[in-house]
Order: sequence, then structure tokens, then C-alpha cells
Amino acid sequence: MKRLALALLCVAAAACTPGKSGVPAYLDPSADIELRVEDALSRMTLEEKVAMLHAQSKFSSPGVQRLGIPEVWCTDGPHGIRPEVLWDEWDQAGWTNDSCTAFPALSCLAATWDRELALLYGRSIGEEARYRGKDILLGPGVNICRTPLNGRNFEYLGEDPFLAGEMVVPYVKGVQENGVAACVKHFAVNNQEVRRTSTSSNVDDRTLYEIYLPAFKAAVQKGGAWAIMGSYNLYNGQYNCHNKKLLCDILKGEWGFDGVVVSDWGGCRDDDEAVTNGLDMEFGTWTNGLSGAPSDKYDNYHLAKPYLASLKSGKFGTTELDDKVSRILRLIFRTRMSPEPHYGRFVCPEHYAAARKIAAEGTVLLKNDGALPLNIPQGGKLLVVGENAVKKMVVGGGSSSLKTRVEVTPLEGLQDAFAGKAEVVWERGYVGDVSSSYNSVSTGQDLSESRSPEQLIADAVKAAEGASCIVFVGGLNKSDGQDNEGTDRSDIVLPYGQDKVIEALSETGIPLVAVNISGSPVAMPWAGKAGAIVQGWYGGSESGHALADVLTGAVNPSGKLPFTVPVCLADGPLKTERQYPGIKSPDKPYWDEYYDEGILVGYRWFATKGIEPQFPFGHGLSYTTFEYGGAKASGKVSEGGTVRFSVNVTNTGAVDGAEVVQLYVAAPEVAAGRSKIELKAFRKVFLKAGETSRVTLDIPASELRRFDADSHSWVSDPGEYTLLAGSSSKDIRAEARFTLK
Ligand code: BGC
Repeated sequence: MKRLALALLCVAAAACTPGKSGVPAYLDPSADIELRVEDALSRMTLEEKVAMLHAQSKFSSPGVQRLGIPEVWCTDGPHGIRPEVLWDEWDQAGWTNDSCTAFPALSCLAATWDRELALLYGRSIGEEARYRGKDILLGPGVNICRTPLNGRNFEYLGEDPFLAGEMVVPYVKGVQENGVAACVKHFAVNNQEVRRTSTSSNVDDRTLYEIYLPAFKAAVQKGGAWAIMGSYNLYNGQYNCHNKKLLCDILKGEWGFDGVVVSDWGGCRDDDEAVTNGLDMEFGTWTNGLSGAPSDKYDNYHLAKPYLASLKSGKFGTTELDDKVSRILRLIFRTRMSPEPHYGRFVCPEHYAAARKIAAEGTVLLKNDGALPLNIPQGGKLLVVGENAVKKMVVGGGSSSLKTRVEVTPLEGLQDAFAGKAEVVWERGYVGDVSSSYNSVSTGQDLSESRSPEQLIADAVKAAEGASCIVFVGGLNKSDGQDNEGTDRSDIVLPYGQDKVIEALSETGIPLVAVNISGSPVAMPWAGKAGAIVQGWYGGSESGHALADVLTGAVNPSGKLPFTVPVCLADGPLKTERQYPGIKSPDKPYWDEYYDEGILVGYRWFATKGIEPQFPFGHGLSYTTFEYGGAKASGKVSEGGTVRFSVNVTNTGAVDGAEVVQLYVAAPEVAAGRSKIELKAFRKVFLKAGETSRVTLDIPASELRRFDADSHSWVSDPGEYTLLAGSSSKDIRAEARFTLK
């Protein structure tokens, strides 16, 4: 009956296209997607079209009820499926079926340097999104870690555009295999949280194209992302949710993006620019951006009544409107109304296993003088110290906060691992963040504490008596001023006096393992005093098991830092207020920030300036050792060709393990303002003890170009290049040269 009615409607509308067996083309799953879009568009009224462009609730936009075109439902993203919220409130709705699998933070995924795991991550989270009935997953985030202080570094894929670009592509593909659109965020040059809605990132074109855009471009062109989210900040003086250069010229123009541009929540600021400058869907919190007007008036959004009025008055024609609606329809035909049915799955053993594997593979062994893997005699004692050993951290941090039934803490992970073998005792050591809820989701933990800092240290030292080893688990957390949306840190020094705790523990003479849980680099002035140092992350549901897997040696660590850990903040490239956090001139309503450091971000800065970091980008040890030898590169390469590099890698230790072979390129002329080294290829190889593998890495010559702002094109620098293969950006084990003709 419904089909018949629709068919009749179709006959009534002259431009409508029938599909197979008389079904309207837009309802015919076998019809070409562009035909479906065109057909649906031709049936819609002006009001129906405008209604699709803006939110109707916190996370949904209306479909077309008359035509049976469904609503679009979004969810954060990017580490799991956000709990259901009330229609127009951030607070969770209190459903009991929405506790998700919490996957590790994206900084951890980046640290795996493993494309397969990025695919597994994308697939798993995509399945969870589909099961929960979501069409757009608000993630992944690919903003470059420009400063260690950025509160959202934990949601991103590190400091290098190539690494981020390689990891985002499989994530996006994995999500979208499930008929769920990945919404890559936050486009673009959104590299800090402080004054995130009122700062203009002023970046030169070369820096923009070489550092801040490549991961987005890869997500769009190689990953085929169906949605992208504009960021809160301005770029060169125009708000990014309707920034003409970013959205019209680059994203939809140069890159040919055919998906939907979604505003960040409340990030749209202007009636006219919202129409003309590439925004497709406006989401948000309040009626007019972020100012807190009555919350039930979605009709007052820029792309709602004001737009309808301008269309009716003839101020705007329907070209932009039809383009926006076509993109949204395309997204719907790719997701909810896709020809292939998708059902997903939710909180299943496979997803926990994926979360555990990714968390373990991303764990980075920074230093080891033999304290790891843990060697506790039968019946012995292991002392665990630190708040992060017990604090549940899936809840908190902003929009990525989740509700999960299971979150295994590091202490629980170690207790499970040593059950029946050794006693695992915990002491707090310091007090950090005692809060335990976010948007009315609670971890149920009571972390209140009455002891003084001195007493806490004294108690921890006392508890060390008789222990074979101390594992300190500290770092940052997801409260304000830590790894948290909306705020940045003020320094990279560990908060809450943790340095003192670590120093005191090191003085006991008992082997000390320091585990830093964070999504950003922290200073480690005690690095020389700890027997082993581990960079852990917000590991999600299986956090503690994964950490225990690595500490006990059940998993041989193979994670590599996705960012540089500097000795101190001052060693990094951001030196002035102009650069960070920005300056205010009286004549502008926003702050200005200048990316004066240009392309010298992260290791590019440290390597080019010859500054020694605490731990370099790409660094990470294993319980085995690897030797490189027999490096070879294709001798001469022409512009359209590919450089082929190969090297033997041997596992020379006693245990099986994985090495991430990293290939950096040193261009002939640092004079052209290039970084001394740039990562251009990498591969993770698993090798049994004693095994050798020949690792081949290809670099298309086009990847060696730099962006020339004057000609607005990518240009090559011919000459002799050096290929540097290594275990980190500083630990180069093999070299070869080639000439670019
Ligand atoms: C964040 C986005 C998020 C959105 C919806 C914004 O505040 O910046 O990353 O997806 O809220 O929760």
C-alpha cells in the first residue's frame, strides 16, 4: 500500500523518476545513488529541504516524514558510542542498554603504528554505532599535536601528518563498511582548546598544506569519508564552520569531497556565510551558536528560519540549498537507506578483545634497564602506587566521555595477572582528581582522601617494604586543565606533586617502573631514576588488562611514540604569545594566533634545530632487540616514479616481537626551508626470535614534494636524497641514497 501511495505521488510530480518495478527511484536500493538523490530532491518542498539542514535535537536532524526519508542520528565519537542523551540536554538519558565498549584513545591507536589495528578499531566502533542506530560517528579526530598542552591531544593521532594520514584511512573505511558515516574532525587548524571558539589560527599556505591538511585529505580521498566536521576556531579571520577557503576552495573544490560538512556543536555563527561557504548541516547546543539562548528553538538556527526567509525573499536562489540537501541525501543513501543491510553488534567479546589488543599494542616502553617484564617470585609482593592505577577514566574529558559496563583499572589488571602467584598491594601516593561523573554518568568510585601529600608519600614508601618491584601508575587524567576538552594544560610538568612521589619511591632502591597514563607528552625529570618507563594511554574498557599484558611480558611491547616527549616545554617550537595561546587586538572580536614556527612542528623542530628531546618521536623499545642491515634504494627516480627502499630486519633477541621500521627522508636542500627529516613510510613487522625479514617500503616521488605557496602547487626539489631507516626518528639504523631527477 505504502509503495503504491508513493508511486502515485511520483506520478503526480513531473520530475520524479520511477525506479525498478514502479517503486520511486529514491526508494529503489538497486538504483544509482545519484539518481536516488536527484529523485528524492525533486519530490521535496522548500520547507522540507531547509528542515534537513539543521538539528532537531542535540544529536539528530529531521528526515522527510512524508517521503519516508529517515532522520539522521549522530553520536560521539571517537572512542566509543556516547550514551543516549536527553532530547536537548547533555545529560545522559539513563537508558540501560547503551553502555558501550570503550576503545583506547586515538593517541594510543596512533602509537600502534599499525594500519590493521586502525581497521579493526574502525570496524569495531562502526559495528557498535550501527547497532545503536547511529548514522554518523563524530570522529575520528586528526588535528596535529602542535603543542603538548592541547587538552584534546588524546583524541587525535599524534604530531605527524603522514602517520595520522596513514592511520585515519583504515579507521574511516572500517567505520563506513558498516553503513555508518565517519565524520572526520575538526577541520581545520584546531590545535588548542583554550579560547577554542574565539581564536583565529593564522597559518601560511605551505604549513597548512604540508602539516595541517594531509590527514584530512587522506581521510577524504583515500578513506572516502562521508562527513567532515568544521572546527570552532577561525582560520585566517573566518569561522571554520563556514570558512570559504577551507570548505569551498580546498575540501569541496581541490579535493572533490562529495559528503556532508557538519558544524561543530554551536560552531556556526553567520546566516549568510552558513549558506554560501560550504556548510551543509548545522548542529549545536543553543539557538544561536554558543550563547545560551532558549534551548528548544532549533528553528532559529542559521540554516533554519533565517535561511528559509532569505530563500523566500529571493536573497538566495536554490543552488546552494540543493547542493546541501543532495549531500545529506547521499549520506542517507550511503548509511540508513544503503542497498546493503547492516546491523552491527554491540559490547561483544570480539570488541573487548579488539580494545585490549589495541591498548596493549599501543603501549610504549620508553626505557628499560631490566625492571621489565615484571619478575615477582612466587608468593612475593608487588607494590602499585598512584591514583591512575585505580581511577576509571572512560568517564570524563568532554564529548568523548563514555558509559561502559566494564573498565578494568591497572590495579585490577595486575591483580588478575598475579592472582595466586604474588600479592599486589596498592598505595595512593598523591591525590589528583576525585570527581567520578560526567553528564550524569558516574563511575561509582569514591576517591575522597584525607591524608596530606607528605603522609601519602610516607605511606607509599613504607608499603614498599618487602616488595620485589614498585609500579607507579600516574600521569594526567580527564579533568579540567588535563587531557580534557575545553581547556589546555598550563605546563607539561606532572600535576599533583607526582615528581616528588616518584623521586621518593626511587630512593627505596627497589626496582621502579613508572607508568605515565596520558594523551599528551609530560616532563620526566626523574627519567634517570626509574628502572623502566612506560607510556600508557586512556586504554578504555580493557585498559588494565592491556597494561598488565605488557608489564608481565604476555605481550611484547611494540608501541612507538606518536609525538615527541620534550625535556621541558621551552624546548619546543612555540616561544611567543603570538604563537600560543594568541594575542588580542582591540579592533577584532577574536584572538589571533600565528603559526610562526611554520612546518617545524614536533620532531621536525627538534631534528632541524638539533635539540635533544627526552624521548624522540617514533621511540619505543621491546623485550627483544632488532638489527637492521643490507639497506638498498632505487638509485635514480623520476618525478612520476616511486622510490623503493628495502632493508633486512632481524629479531636478535630471545623472544618474538614486532618492530616498526620507520623511513625518514632527508631532502637535498634544507635551504628550501624543509625539515631536516620527514617521515615518509613505515611498516610494523612481527618477527619470531632469530627471524629475519626483508622489509620493502615504497615512497611515490610525489610524496617528496613541498608546497610552494607562490605558485599554489606542489614542487619537487631534484637532487640527492638520503633515506634513513630506524627504530625512531633519532635511532637511525640504516641509510641509503637516491637521486631525484
Ligand atoms: C566537540 C565535538 C563533538 C560535539 C558533539 C563539541 O563540543 O568539539 O568534537 O563531536 O561537541 O558532542
